[in-house]
Amino acid sequence: TPTLTDRLSQVIRDVPDFPSAGILFKDITPVLADPALMRETLSSMAEPVVGAGITHVVAVESRGFLFGMPLALELGVAFAPARKPGKLPWHTVREAYTLEYRSDVLEMHEDALTLGMPGAGRPRVLVVDDVLATGGTAAATCRLVERLGGEVVAVSVLVELGFLDGRSRLPGRRVVPVVRY
Ligand code: PRP
Ligand code: MG
Repeated sequence: TPTLTDRLSQVIRDVPDFPSAGILFKDITPVLADPALMRETLSSMAEPVVGAGITHVVAVESRGFLFGMPLALELGVAFAPARKPGKLPWHTVREAYTLEYRSDVLEMHEDALTLGMPGAGRPRVLVVDDVLATGGTAAATCRLVERLGGEVVAVSVLVELGFLDGRSRLPGRRVVPVVRY
């Protein structure tokens, strides 16, 4: 029987030149359309951090939300969103990052890691996104988490585009992909 990685690779679609020339876009919508595959994918993303004392999942607008929120439920921990600028209504902290085709600021609420904190101690955060490409998004999210007093336990992604070397922007961090290209 094919492995989870095999089945994900079979359904994740390559779309050339989207959203602009030269970008090979990984379309994960077929994964979202398959509840059994989603369930297994989420279990696989949860498994490496079971027992790691995670207190919060922080996921990145917008595709990161699709995996981050159900993963938080699966782990039984708080969820906190990192959003594109100007979307969050409360007091925010922001981090800029530079990338090929998208907006370059992410924000979190300044109390994002205080809410849902089960007790004393430092928040232990799992950062979640759908794709790790150049790593700029994940690196900015990790900086936000640390500015808010959290510890980044791991960065969990569905897909890592290894050829873009996003890990070089995440030195010393534990990066856990389900599928790697
Ligand atoms: C995509 C993807 C990751 C990020 C990865 O998001 O969902 O968040 O890019 O790229 P990086 O590793 O080079 O930073 P995008 O900004 O396209 O927005 P979306 O999630 O709202 O679709
Ligand atoms: Mg994204």
